[in-house]
Amino acid sequence: MSVLSAEIARRRTFAIISHPDAGKTTLTEKLLLFGGAIQLAGAVKARGEQRRAHSDWMKVERERGISVTASVMTFDYDEKTFNLLDTPGHEDFSEDTFRVLTAVDSVVMVIDAARGIQAQTKKLFEVCRLRDMPIITFINKMDREAQDPFDLLDEIEQTLQIEVTPASWPIGMGSGFLGCYDLMGDQLLLMDKGSRGEKPHQVETCSGLDDPKLDKLLPDHALSDLRDQVEMVRGLCPEFDESAYLAGNLSPVFFGSAINSFGVSELISGLARHAPAPRPQPAIERKILPEDDKVSGFVFKIQANMDPRHRDRIAFVRLCSGHFKRGMKLKNVRTEKHLALHNAVLFLARDRELAAEAWAGDIIGIPNHGNLHIGDALTEGEVLRFTGLPSFAPEHLRAARPEDPMRAKHMGRALQQLAEEGAASVFKPRVGSDWIVGAVGVLQFEVMADRIRTEYDVPARFESTSLITARWLESDDEGKLKDFVRKNEGSIADDHRGHPVFLARNAWHLDRAQEDWPDIRFVNTKEQTI
Ligand code: G4P
Repeated sequence: MSVLSAEIARRRTFAIISHPDAGKTTLTEKLLLFGGAIQLAGAVKARGEQRRAHSDWMKVERERGISVTASVMTFDYDEKTFNLLDTPGHEDFSEDTFRVLTAVDSVVMVIDAARGIQAQTKKLFEVCRLRDMPIITFINKMDREAQDPFDLLDEIEQTLQIEVTPASWPIGMGSGFLGCYDLMGDQLLLMDKGSRGEKPHQVETCSGLDDPKLDKLLPDHALSDLRDQVEMVRGLCPEFDESAYLAGNLSPVFFGSAINSFGVSELISGLARHAPAPRPQPAIERKILPEDDKVSGFVFKIQANMDPRHRDRIAFVRLCSGHFKRGMKLKNVRTEKHLALHNAVLFLARDRELAAEAWAGDIIGIPNHGNLHIGDALTEGEVLRFTGLPSFAPEHLRAARPEDPMRAKHMGRALQQLAEEGAASVFKPRVGSDWIVGAVGVLQFEVMADRIRTEYDVPARFESTSLITARWLESDDEGKLKDFVRKNEGSIADDHRGHPVFLARNAWHLDRAQEDWPDIRFVNTKEQTI
């Protein structure tokens, strides 16, 4: 095997999806702890606090108690390199989450054992389903009063329409939770409630559930319940089938308690063993295989203010192929400009680190001053346009107005930059001097207003408009499109890339335009290729 193939084969790039409060942060922290990337539990939060203390923008996050920013953490375990991409849990930022999911090869879905499938889990799951993403389920908080495990499996299967099979089986729950039986490796995993830090649990290998050793390790009632339940579940659920998992049709389920670090090492071993290595990436021109010699990647996220000491932006690039080396020159296919990448960073959990090298599947961060946009392709020269990074038609439209009218130009520049980062959609109507900002969730307006004020020094308001939605305009007939735009100028705006958009005043307005102009497509998602 070539070095490139070997490096790719040992990478696991994944994200955790969950409803807020299910335990994503706690689980992330424990994964990092087990991966040796952090020493003490609590470090993810502590670092977060430190960051927040420096940035006004982050105040929105803190006051709202939500995590808006997503980050990347890299750690090693079991001779594998894991890239864990964080996703914002709040639904107002679902567009961000969607984009993060285009950059991973599999996901871990965390479910609160008492609450089961919640609204946001379902939404995020559906996004994964669209991409046939392999999903491992982690049912968390078994140390609390939980739903019956059979009911939980049934709920996942019914609500999400995916087959499930337990990888481990819980022994008791709440204060009577003793641990799990590892159904794949025939091990008894007993929880030690005392220690929350390292790997505190007793692991006993056995020859199966009839092993007499178990009689000594478990109380009678717990053991007979376990035997009965496992027999039943083996009758009800299919056996684990790796190809069904990789196709996104079957999810192995682990039970655990992240706060007690319990079930975490089994989860991470499960990822190491079964989760896919970097997968091929679709582009208009061809499918990009990770093993291709030439380096390629795409920008899926832009983040400003990662570090308050550097007022730069970081473009997060998912490497899709090849072996990246520091100093390499890559072409931005959209602008046709070459970038010499001397200062790309890797996100080793402790801090940013200069990337000496990276491989397909890795995420690198490129500091820049606005020349990289979401959806940009970077290559060694080939013209590639990656697909699958959509913009969604905004559900809320507001007019942005600077408090001081003299600062309108500055505000326009700020809005343009924020749109390039994917913070919201920004439209410049052809008629009038307003800027229209579109968001999928209203919280995005709050973040925008705060950032325009703190980062660009332009206090601004977002005022309601009579517009209900925006649709990108496309047509195979350039002449017709021009004609439509000319005749409807009062309802036409340009997005931050200069693509024409129809701003609808009400449903009737949109229906009417669609009826009258059958050659024009009014699209509500737009791929962010060039
Ligand atoms: P999130 O990122 O998905 O929003 O969830 P987070 O990890 O912040 O966890 C939400 C709450 O659930 C936290 O409690 C956390 O301590 C708790 N939690 C996480 N995993 C477990 C578990 O396995 N068992 C139990 N019993 N609780 C768990 P909090 O009181 O909101 O915050 P904190 O004060 O503990 O930090």
